[in-house]
Amino acid sequence: ELGPYRHYMQKEIFEQPRAIADTLEAVGDVTPGLFGEKAAEVFNDVDRILMIACGTSYYAALTSKYWLEGIAGIPCDVEIASEYRYRKSVPNPKTLVVTISQSGETADTLAALKHARDLGMTKTLTICNVATSAMVRESLLRYITRAGVEIGVASTKAFTTQLTALFLLTLCLAKVKGRLDPKDEAEYMRLLRHVPKAVSAVLALEPQVMAWAERFASKEDALFLGRGIHYPIALEGALKLKEISYIHAEAYPAGELKHGPLALVDESIPVVTVAPNDELLEKLKSNMKEVEARKGELYVFADADTGLESTEHIHVIRMPENYGPLSPILHVVPLQLLAYHTAFIRGNDVDKPRNLAKSVTTE
Ligand code: M6R
Repeated sequence: ELGPYRHYMQKEIFEQPRAIADTLEAVGDVTPGLFGEKAAEVFNDVDRILMIACGTSYYAALTSKYWLEGIAGIPCDVEIASEYRYRKSVPNPKTLVVTISQSGETADTLAALKHARDLGMTKTLTICNVATSAMVRESLLRYITRAGVEIGVASTKAFTTQLTALFLLTLCLAKVKGRLDPKDEAEYMRLLRHVPKAVSAVLALEPQVMAWAERFASKEDALFLGRGIHYPIALEGALKLKEISYIHAEAYPAGELKHGPLALVDESIPVVTVAPNDELLEKLKSNMKEVEARKGELYVFADADTGLESTEHIHVIRMPENYGPLSPILHVVPLQLLAYHTAFIRGNDVDKPRNLAKSVTTE
């Protein structure tokens, strides 16, 4: 069943091009109907979004905030389910409540969905990998990702297919709100449909990432940096590493370095940097200089034309192409591979990390 792979996690990382293509398979036009019969009526009447999730699904939600506000112009809040369900919040009936979950059974996310509904927010949408799950049944609208069964406890293909669905949701809402002209729509869809191919090209970087993993395997701490829409990707990279390699990892928006985490930087700590070629590149470079000045070792996943080259203390892996708004889907892949190979070298049970369950159905 594992074919050429050693673990389900590795297999699932390599299934991503297929999983993303399958998630897009039934998509023709960008229309509310993709999200359920009542979606047209509901989308017309929403003026904000509230995303609720846990773990990796929460990072998918955080990523999509940048799309929803940047492309669709809709205010978007993102909440950790276990926090949202127990705090006093101000409900707004015009909010689209979006729960995101691989399993659709996560206790806190399900409870948060019911909590939102009890507060009068009945416009609910679940993005989920299991069509028959509790969350899908409890929601008015749904989008089913087609990642296929995910066995590894560390979520990989579920995450990238969630992002695929969330980008579609963004385009759909942008269109309903009259913020998407047909030319842009066609271009975004062209990019989205090309993602599986682009991910395949990123997967070919595996040997280079393995060489880095050899060095990471002996570390006890790591720092992950990103900016803008790649900050949630840094968070996801750090979660992957800690979850399966048991290396303490923290992610920061690079602009926060000076506000504390820079104190951690010395020769011994690897600093993984997500460096897309976007409008924040120059800012990111100056953050990298701050790390370099403290003799930190930088491990940079850099797009082409960023001018970032390997030097004594900067190690660069070049990403195959710049991918504009969909770049987070590509940049997370080498972080998954880095975590996987580091955990494997450390001899850990990659598919079943200690203390964790695949689906957290109790609080
Ligand atoms: O099934 P869900 O997406 O609701 O699960 C949420 C989290 O438990 C899950 O993403 C967890 O953080 C993963 N183990 C991360 O790899």
